[in-house]
Amino acid sequence: MAAREAPWKTAWVTGASTGIGRSLVLKLAEAGVKVAATARTQANLDDLAALHPNIVPAALDVSDREVVLQSSVPSGAQIGDIDLAILNAGVWHPSWAKDIDGAKAAQSMAVNYLGVVNCVEALLPHMTRQQRGHIAMTSSVAGYRGLPKSCHYGPTKAAIYNLAETLGIELKSQGIDITVISPGFVETPMTSVNDFPMPYIMSPDEAANRILKKLPSKPFEIAFPWQLVWALKLAQMMPTPLYLWQARRSLGRGPDK
Ligand SMILES: NC(=O)c1ccc[n+]([C@@H]2O[C@H](COP(=O)([O-])OP(=O)(O)OC[C@H]3O[C@@H](n4cnc5c(N)ncnc54)[C@H](OP(=O)(O)O)[C@@H]3O)[C@@H](O)[C@H]2O)c1
Repeated sequence: MAAREAPWKTAWVTGASTGIGRSLVLKLAEAGVKVAATARTQANLDDLAALHPNIVPAALDVSDREVVLQSSVPSGAQIGDIDLAILNAGVWHPSWAKDIDGAKAAQSMAVNYLGVVNCVEALLPHMTRQQRGHIAMTSSVAGYRGLPKSCHYGPTKAAIYNLAETLGIELKSQGIDITVISPGFVETPMTSVNDFPMPYIMSPDEAANRILKKLPSKPFEIAFPWQLVWALKLAQMMPTPLYLWQARRSLGRGPDK
């Protein structure tokens, strides 16, 4: 994205210290956008900020509602009113269903879902006052259907998709646009733990390019790669008993293999 193409003056990216968020921050900064880059690991954010003067780092745990509401980031205190927020922070605890763990599920929900809700709550007073703003939130193709090893993660991403629909209906009339981002596999610290095939995996730079190419037109959803998106959207359209039968067949003997 060349500087003259960026339709935003300011942006806030959560989960900015590694992976997709880090690539988004760098590309936005290079396109002339002033970016508030937040995550928990200050050292990573400082290293990122050293790469471009448009990057303003701030440590922020999105799962802590009080901290998010008291933060000066959502008001744009350091960079000016926020034009674009990409709520991207996330965690992934892969697990077979037999090992389901309430603590991991709670942490996943606290970061992946409630973390987004906390940031939206903090942003809305400002965007409502501005009568404009664009909020993008990262879901996953894993939110379209229940998938193996996804008992902690999948429900959080399905929740994001549903939240985006609700917000997308209600906030448009106030000048606020909502986009849900549904990536397939991206090569980041998150997926480095995976011990299963990850078809069509792409680099974080490629994922960021795809997101930033489409965001200016404010679509409801940005989903990629098309091969995984179509396969899982088709699965969404299947009657549930048929989907479950097919998924069990594909899984084979699953965790007992
Ligand atoms: N990689 C994939 O294949 C894939 C596919 C679909 C969707 N996604 C989604 O894309 C988003 C980015 O993932 P990624 O692949 O880039 O993973 P990643 O490299 O592990 O990045 C996750 C980011 O979230 C931050 N984070 C975690 N917990 C946080 C918290 N409590 N508060 C604030 N920040 C927190 C991490 O930074 P700190 O640890 O420094 O806080 C890090 O910056 C996630 O929402 C993920 O679910 C990824």
